Amino acid sequence: MWWENEFVKTRKQSLYLGGEPAERIARRHGTPLMVYSGSQIRANYRALRQAFTKALRLPLRVCYAMKANPHREILKLLEKQGAWIDAVSPREVEEALKAGFPPRRILFTGTSLSTGDLRRVFRIPGLTVNIDALEQLELMDELKRKEFREKRIRVSVRWNPGVGRGFNPRAITAGARSTDGTPIKFGVEKNKVIAALKRASAVGFQPVGLHQHLGSGWVEEDYEAVAEAVERMVDMAAQAEKEGFRLEFLDFGGGFGPRYEEKQRLFPLQRYAALIARRVSRAGLGVRAIAVEPGKYLVANAGVLLLGVEYIKESYGQLFACVNSGTFNSLPRPAIYPQARHHIVNARRVYDGQMRPVTVAGNLCETGDVFGKEIPMPVPMRGDVLAVLGAGAYGRSMASNFNLRDIPQELFI
Ligand code: LLP
Repeated sequence: MWWENEFVKTRKQSLYLGGEPAERIARRHGTPLMVYSGSQIRANYRALRQAFTKALRLPLRVCYAMKANPHREILKLLEKQGAWIDAVSPREVEEALKAGFPPRRILFTGTSLSTGDLRRVFRIPGLTVNIDALEQLELMDELKRKEFREKRIRVSVRWNPGVGRGFNPRAITAGARSTDGTPIKFGVEKNKVIAALKRASAVGFQPVGLHQHLGSGWVEEDYEAVAEAVERMVDMAAQAEKEGFRLEFLDFGGGFGPRYEEKQRLFPLQRYAALIARRVSRAGLGVRAIAVEPGKYLVANAGVLLLGVEYIKESYGQLFACVNSGTFNSLPRPAIYPQARHHIVNARRVYDGQMRPVTVAGNLCETGDVFGKEIPMPVPMRGDVLAVLGAGAYGRSMASNFNLRDIPQELFI
């Protein structure tokens, strides 16, 4: 099957997770249940490093975008692999520290930050603070003068290169407007980047890098736009160097996606890595490291959501598997992004000769509360277990108690 990997496999028509029948795991722990695989995350991490180290002469920093899944065991595992962290709130920074990340391996990229937020991260020696707006420097300057006068604080500038890509309008994070017209709030616009570096340094911060993040869930046809943004980043870094800034790193953000659907054409990661390597070296930049910030790539296919089927319902010719969790409580993606797809399989019989389109309906009072629409599968029965694949990223981390329903337990294997 196109979705099989080290963690998720089919044997004699049934689904196995990490070598154990999914139904047995569900019986032992109950459903709904989120299951994560450490070895799959390690495999993803290795594959990513390989794609880059082939072409790249500079050290690669893999900054895990922990917003995708901040489970403590996942953080600990990635710390041991030598990963860095992309944190976006003070609490994420604190969780990363608890999991053992040294502050110098944490890049804090916040937006709409308060003085209170900044105080919590300025306190941590060695951490790098990414600046989201020239105007944010007013708050930073004021706080530094009042409470952190003698302290060396590393900063970088998150800039908006004017081009962004993502799998839906809400997952595009650069450009002037998203494809649905929403003005994009992130980053420093092109003409203010040098001013931001100058101001940061004038008020006593140490500028050490440039950062961009274009969006999430790239596929093959996004390559040209992404490549254009790489060119723009390199040009901006050259300009900064000409102005006398000695940048330690360029961070190209995350966005390169895993496969969620069979028909999806994967983003050419190796080609992207080679392009970054070539352009950085041709420009003769003095940077000492390249960073990327994957979330989905590392954890999406290392998570499966197991749901229990309460009953099968037929209505106006449609077949529904009514399950014991809601999307918002476990994996909100299919409910909030019309373009999000998760393949779903019946754990007891992954396939047989009679596949029927089944809509997997959650237990919330909202029409959009379906995990998957008309997914072909052997018709489930009461008590069956359905497995929602690709649930490791932006599932639990975006879950809420909507309808006062519980958030599922998590199991790390
Ligand atoms: N770096 C920054 C600054 C980001 O804002 C993000 C994601 C990433 C890295 C990681 O992107 P990834 O490699 O995971 O694509 N909730 C949406 C995704 C929103 C991502 C926002 N930023 C979803 O479920 O698809």
